[in-house]
Amino acid sequence: MKTECFDVIIVGTGASGLTVALELAKSRSEQNTKIALISKGPILDGSTLYAQGGIAAVLDEDNDSIDFHVKDTINAGAGLCHEDSVNFTIEHSKAAIQWVIDKGVKFSKEEDNYHLTREGGHSQRRVIHADDATGKALSEGLVAQVKRHPDITLFEHHMAVDLIISPSSHSQKKEGQCIGIYLLNTQNNQVTEVPAKFTVLATGGASKVYLYTSNPDTSTGDGIAMAWRAGCRIANMEFNQFHPTCLFHPKAKSFLITEALRGEGAKLKLPDGTAFMHKFDEREELAPRDIVAQAIDYEMKRTGSDFVYLDITHKSPEFIIAHFPTIYKRCLTFGIDITSEPIPVVPAAHYTCGGIMTNLDAQTDIPNLYAIGETAFTGLHGANRMASNSLLECLVFGKAAADKIKSELTYYDCMPELPPWDDSRVTGSEEGVVITHNWDELRRFMWNYVGIVRKNKRLLLAKQRIRLLQREIDDYYRQYIINSDLIELRNLATVAELIIDSAMRRKESRGLHYTLDYPYKDDQTFLNDTILVPHNY
Ligand code: FAD
Ligand code: SIN
Repeated sequence: MKTECFDVIIVGTGASGLTVALELAKSRSEQNTKIALISKGPILDGSTLYAQGGIAAVLDEDNDSIDFHVKDTINAGAGLCHEDSVNFTIEHSKAAIQWVIDKGVKFSKEEDNYHLTREGGHSQRRVIHADDATGKALSEGLVAQVKRHPDITLFEHHMAVDLIISPSSHSQKKEGQCIGIYLLNTQNNQVTEVPAKFTVLATGGASKVYLYTSNPDTSTGDGIAMAWRAGCRIANMEFNQFHPTCLFHPKAKSFLITEALRGEGAKLKLPDGTAFMHKFDEREELAPRDIVAQAIDYEMKRTGSDFVYLDITHKSPEFIIAHFPTIYKRCLTFGIDITSEPIPVVPAAHYTCGGIMTNLDAQTDIPNLYAIGETAFTGLHGANRMASNSLLECLVFGKAAADKIKSELTYYDCMPELPPWDDSRVTGSEEGVVITHNWDELRRFMWNYVGIVRKNKRLLLAKQRIRLLQREIDDYYRQYIINSDLIELRNLATVAELIIDSAMRRKESRGLHYTLDYPYKDDQTFLNDTILVPHNY
């Protein structure tokens, strides 16, 4: 089955997908652009919805500057940030925030000025926010605009399965360009071919590859896995960021406690009340995340404790409730009153710094295929993303992608024929347990063997396990009718292998990649990206 042809398919409805959709659909006086916007669940899902801290940007020009923000980003990135990408992103930060405000999103104010908070790695207050629920305000504001726009056709509960790449004999302008996607309707399990002149992957990160994560269920690395299978290079997958402070409670499914608490002076403490960050970094609680997460991991292992505490009780209850209403209310449901007692916290997988390689126009290695947001690797974050730079990246690169696509749209037509989805040789499965078992096993060994602190031996064990799982999953994929769980498991396994392979190559410790076998930085050999090249590149 085939749908009509779209000018642009956008896979993902987080900050990056919504931005590119609105920028493309912007002007009703220009020729209409037919856009398909796809989310595998409801439109309001994905990491963007859960973002707490805010968006970093140079807004207080009396005390801050582009140079300061650039310098802080590069410092956090531990030598691997691409300066062109850092400059490009931060130079566009003020305009990106103005664009969001113009779309009707309301940020917190103090008297007449926007309130700017601080997070780890930032030398200045520069994080604009909507209390402690910035992602909700941003998503709801942009979604309201998207729903009103007649050029955007929304496909909720639809999942991109794979990209369709033209065989060279069929290509119009260039060989092997992206000409659409296979799309699974997750409510009736039917797959449709969707043709498009341009495809944008805005599918978010891959932190679900780990057992404990701050991310929602959508973060299964689908875009990275699809792009890899189609022939794109993937970079720096060893740098998965672990957020230092997620709520530790048996019933709290990885609820994040924003770094902005530490920005307002909250202290990390051992269960006996002793502060410890001064032993690890002179910036203490406001050191970049890699340092804070590694310090917590070290102290938990040293003391045998399951958690550490984060204590903001030095602030008045009025201040805490006004600045962190979501966290206050959520913790209270678990019996923790953060105005009078410390919060038990643990690190959890949070952000995928690596991803699909793109240029500053968000173009990937495959013609007419773009990648933006957490699924992309633009070089901005280096070996460790600075807090609140990711929503900014979604906004800036979303606009850059839209500008480039608009400039090329008239040169392309839709492909008349797409290779049809072939499910003639598969049957229904009665072995669903294979999916649930492998899903659990994969996330557990990734946590234990490829987590915050790594070792050659554990990486080797993980590599052996992932090879076995890949074989089982491939067999299953070839024999049975697909569903969303199988697609996600297949993608998670691909991403897990990319992470393991990248981590095995980096024989040093840098940023988010810390290994006991090579505990120091080696600038002579490893001051470069880890680039994995697929066989069909
Ligand atoms: P997402 O927002 O994750 O959206 C991904 C979209 O892709 C979803 O719509 C999903 O349905 C869709 N999708 C995925 N796969 C498929 C598929 N196969 N088919 C169809 N659709 C698919 N960053 C900051 O800068 N500041 C913060 O304060 C901040 N706080 C955070 C707090 C939390 C709890 C988390 C988890 C992250 C936070 N981050 C923050 C990181 C930031 O939120 C994310 O990096 C960013 O929102 C990613 O946006 P995105 O558009 O790339 O992807
Ligand atoms: C947080 O609020 O601590 C998360 C910010 C981020 O991940 O950028």
